[in-house]
Amino acid sequence: MNLREKISTVFQKRFNESPAFIVRAPGRVNLIGEHTDYNDGFALPMTINRSVWIALRPRNDKKVSLRSLNLPNSAEFSLNKIAHGKNWDEYPRGVAWALQRADYPLQGWEGILASDIPVGAGLSSSAALELAIARAFWAVNRWDWNPTKMALLAQKTENDWMGLETGIMDQMVSANGKKESALLIDCRSLDFNLLPLPKQITVAILDTATRRGLVDSAYNERVTQCQKASNFFGVDALRDISPEKFKKQAKKLDPLIRRRAKHVITENVRTLQAAEAMRAGDANKLGQLIKESHLSLRDDYEVSSKELNTMVEIANTQTGCLGARMTGGGFGGCAVALVKNSATPSFSTEVAAIYQKKTGLKAQIYLCHPTNGAELVDEKAEG
Ligand code: GLA
Repeated sequence: MNLREKISTVFQKRFNESPAFIVRAPGRVNLIGEHTDYNDGFALPMTINRSVWIALRPRNDKKVSLRSLNLPNSAEFSLNKIAHGKNWDEYPRGVAWALQRADYPLQGWEGILASDIPVGAGLSSSAALELAIARAFWAVNRWDWNPTKMALLAQKTENDWMGLETGIMDQMVSANGKKESALLIDCRSLDFNLLPLPKQITVAILDTATRRGLVDSAYNERVTQCQKASNFFGVDALRDISPEKFKKQAKKLDPLIRRRAKHVITENVRTLQAAEAMRAGDANKLGQLIKESHLSLRDDYEVSSKELNTMVEIANTQTGCLGARMTGGGFGGCAVALVKNSATPSFSTEVAAIYQKKTGLKAQIYLCHPTNGAELVDEKAEG
């Protein structure tokens, strides 16, 4: 039974009728353009075929009631006075708060939620949850669905409700994703281009079975370091510094801050080159850029981990692998690899076996493809 069937069945049992709406929002894997979004730079993520699903029906009052099939506790709150929660219910509460603050009129609803996006793995389970919740509110209240506006509201939930300084990449792709395409996002203008994946390759997610620890403080520290660098150069964001300008002017910059800035500046260039390679269908070039991105994240930005490095090294030595790197915020979680279609079955078994031998950990390998961004997938006919 897939998740959609599962939530429908549980909904039916609990409420004695079929759901009025089923909505979903996908997780994402970032191909390249890491730690660039909060520097107004470029990112190139794609949605994946793992999502948060919600089956729901409207209520006549201001109550929201949501049970998760994966996570303990349920989310129960009133839209009349939204207080902070204690667990994952922070997300529905936060999204409702952000929507109300932006003057979206909200009526309550109740439903069942399930997700197959691993949590804390760098695959944006939180952004998917936020966008699925936003879609659920939309299904009940019907305003104009503008994916980018919704992405910004979901980001506000993280920034202003949860106190995390995350960028816009995850929410942008979970809201705007399209089947068969990656998204080149300009994180300053929020313009994006859909880029089809080269036909001959599969995107593999390599889950190291380690989860990030203390990541929020390390993440916020990187944000501050980048701000120090842009202050030094006298610009709004590191997006405004070319590699040439960096070479000429960075000598007086504190060595640690210089390395952080170097990553962001070179990563922006790599991301634009990667988009060009995708447009030209040049999978080899794309793979090469992905490899370079990993080295920069490992050595200059220092957000990788021992297990991520081991995983990437193993993947890169397999025949048929064009390039691998850590993906997402870092410090644990997943790597991503581009693999020739013909090599994928042996790639998955080989990588998992070698990784287990070297680390004692059991990796999960997900072969994935892009899916649509946050959407309504089913609506019960009236009457
Ligand atoms: C996390 C954040 C994103 C982005 C990445 C790093 O996933 O949520 O906004 O900064 O880290 O690229």
